[in-house]
Amino acid sequence: MSKRMASTALPLVSNSARAFVVSARAATRIALLTLALIAASASAQAQVTLTHGPITGAVDANDATVFTRTSDVATVAIQYSTDSGMANPTSSSSFTTNANDDFTSNIQLTGLTPETAYYLNVLVNGVPQLTAPFPTFTTFPVAGSVRQFKFIYLTDFAAQSSQPPGLTFGTFSAAAAENPKFVYIGGDFDHSGPITIQGKRTMFKLLYDPTQSGLADFVNKILRGMAIVHCWDDHDSGPDNDSKTYSGWDWSYQVFREYVPMYATPAPQPAVYQSFSYGQVDFWATDMRSQRDDEYDVDGPHKSMLNATRLGPQSELAWLENGLLKSSATWKIIISSDGVANPTVRYPDLWAGYQTEFVALRNFINSNQIKNVVFLTNDLHFGGIDDGAESGFPEMTVGAVNLLIAPGSTCRASNVGKWDVGTYYNDTGPCYQYGVITVSTNPDQLLLQIKDDQGNVRISYTVNAN
Ligand SMILES: [Fe+2]
Repeated sequence: MSKRMASTALPLVSNSARAFVVSARAATRIALLTLALIAASASAQAQVTLTHGPITGAVDANDATVFTRTSDVATVAIQYSTDSGMANPTSSSSFTTNANDDFTSNIQLTGLTPETAYYLNVLVNGVPQLTAPFPTFTTFPVAGSVRQFKFIYLTDFAAQSSQPPGLTFGTFSAAAAENPKFVYIGGDFDHSGPITIQGKRTMFKLLYDPTQSGLADFVNKILRGMAIVHCWDDHDSGPDNDSKTYSGWDWSYQVFREYVPMYATPAPQPAVYQSFSYGQVDFWATDMRSQRDDEYDVDGPHKSMLNATRLGPQSELAWLENGLLKSSATWKIIISSDGVANPTVRYPDLWAGYQTEFVALRNFINSNQIKNVVFLTNDLHFGGIDDGAESGFPEMTVGAVNLLIAPGSTCRASNVGKWDVGTYYNDTGPCYQYGVITVSTNPDQLLLQIKDDQGNVRISYTVNAN
């Protein structure tokens, strides 16, 4: 056979056979490759895990929002049940996490039963992530109800990135044992003052991690044991003494929305103020950082804590005043981070430095005969209760929850000022503490208490409703 014949004859007979062989091999290779890809994908999906949460916020009688974070892109759904063993769970709608949101999700649960304990599991790519005891929270009463209840106030956390290993604190366990309906987490959560977007995310990741030094009870008993409400101060939103002029508000706001399940709010970005109700109490959780003028501005009609962005009827000040005016609740509690009403303490970053606006707010409240307004505040790093003699309103300020203090140093971050009921601090070491607020009826009263890390009462005062 000539070479030419061979070259022409072979294609007639063998090319189709070769094509068949090639095609069969290719199909086998493709099939194997596909199987390998499927296996790799399944394996990768199985390896994506829950890294943080669940943490529940924005709770009312029928709704809640559950925060989670995964280690990579994943489909997340919340399983919830009224059984502590998670019998007959319901699954929420699912959400696919993504890198732009740092793999966080805030999934809303709807159609819940009021005043009912719910237990949670988290499905990541369909795989349950938790075992008993499951995280839990309890829904709030139907609007307009009257209830006797407690809530707690934890605030001013140590910069977790610099906490030494091996710490334990009794504060969180004692606070959880109060059996509160929810926790308000005040500002300076924590004191690390993160500037970059990754730094801001890292702050929350550390605070939400039960393996971090001293945080096991905080995460397991508080964050996974009840509903939370949170607003920021300066050290957790940006640099010390930040105000509306801080250039990083967009990042602070983005990370706050990623990591904090918060109530729906009319607040324009980057403000995070929120209002909510429990029984006969209306709450205004204020943002006293992003909407304020610089503290060193001269006090006067143009210096504002709540309206520096000059939004007029859309401002935080208008939101607060209109809310107070419309409220029919027995109690109106203004919760703030860095909004101490008592003007005898640290000047000028608290209301002490914004007295023109504060006096106008007080006049608004008094002239409209708005009764039973109480301030709950923080950031002095010591506890204090005033009966209203100093600012015109009863006020409890709560000190730091876990700030280490060197022997011989004071836990206070301010002059003591004048608190007519009392103070709790230590000038030679730490003064770990939390606040407890007990709402009772017949007669309508608020019991304000500062307790130490062993749950001992250090200051106590009862506010009687007018
Ligand atoms: Fe602080």
